[in-house]
Amino acid sequence: MKAPVRVAVTGAAGQIGYSLLFRIASGDMLGKDQPVILQLLEITPALEALQGVVMEIEDCAFPLVAGITTSDKAEEAFKDVDYAMLVGARPRGPGMERKDLLEANAAIFSVQGKALNDVASRDVKVLVVGNPANTNSLIAQQNAPDLDPGQFTAMTRLDHNRALAQLANQTGCHTQDITRLTVWGNHSSTQYPDISHAQIKGEPAADKVDRQWYENEFIPTVQQRGAAIIKARGASSAASAASSAVDHMRTWALGTADGDWTSMGIPSDGSYGIAEGIIYSFPVTCKNGKYEIVQGLEIDTFSRERMQATEQELVEERDAVKHLFPNQ
Ligand code: NAD
Ligand code: LMR
Repeated sequence: MKAPVRVAVTGAAGQIGYSLLFRIASGDMLGKDQPVILQLLEITPALEALQGVVMEIEDCAFPLVAGITTSDKAEEAFKDVDYAMLVGARPRGPGMERKDLLEANAAIFSVQGKALNDVASRDVKVLVVGNPANTNSLIAQQNAPDLDPGQFTAMTRLDHNRALAQLANQTGCHTQDITRLTVWGNHSSTQYPDISHAQIKGEPAADKVDRQWYENEFIPTVQQRGAAIIKARGASSAASAASSAVDHMRTWALGTADGDWTSMGIPSDGSYGIAEGIIYSFPVTCKNGKYEIVQGLEIDTFSRERMQATEQELVEERDAVKHLFPNQ
């Protein structure tokens, strides 16, 4: 057995938390040989409910759980953490876009960015799930000047997984047969799920679907999937979001398969002409706990227009929260 690592989860008593904690505790995220200490953050009124969740984790008698702490103070919950999963935030309701949450949730991420800066492990890997995830991640990053900006990421893995599922259904293959799919940009309805480089069992995916279906069904379905779930369930996605958060951290920590890549919201370094600094979803490979943008992909006019539209939205979101960046 390895030495335990510390995993912080915020909003731990919420919907996503209720699925996520059990997956982390069972070893789905970091491996069956990796003990974890869970450090759970909630707002004060939710601490009692969180205690109930803790009782349930205890009652699972998970072999990998080496400790659980709860707190309503970010400086306590983030102390020495190796992984920080920032889930706690208000979800949107019917008729809202995720960016409508910007103001309600932005303050949370500046406070938590500062706390991570002060007390987390210097190698902490941060995943922001709370919406609008990309820009919240940027706010946290800008408030953590002593950490490497690249340690802050946002979740577009749910969009990536949704795209895999749609493409698999349409072509009658399994999601496992699909490689090299990309979600570009924002976790919002401007995101661009791109199959132009994707392969199904090693052959070009674009040759196996109708262009009409790709443009008029696949892309809007993936872009609007979050809203469709809210409409159907009366609440936003939770178990699938938790599962994708587990996937994001597992891939970052343990790596991508040879010949494949995944999608992660990460700080743009200007690759593919995308504005530097915004947290933009790129195709990435991961190895030894580090991610790298897949370079050299050919980008046609159709893709370029969509990549720029979602970039533009992220630039506008960044400009709307700049007052929360201490160095502006
Ligand atoms: P929820 O309302 O069920 O739970 C959120 C929890 O966060 C609550 O328990 C609340 O008390 C807690 N919280 C609020 N402010 C906090 C703070 N400052 N510190 C710690 N905890 C705090 O919501 P949910 O369904 O679990 O969703 C959480 C967030 O994740 C929402 O913003 C939602 O939109 C987002 N989300 C993102 C994705 C994605 O793909 N990126 C997918 C699904 C949901
Ligand atoms: C999702 O994509 O399911 C989440 O971001 C929730 C939402 O508001 O759509």
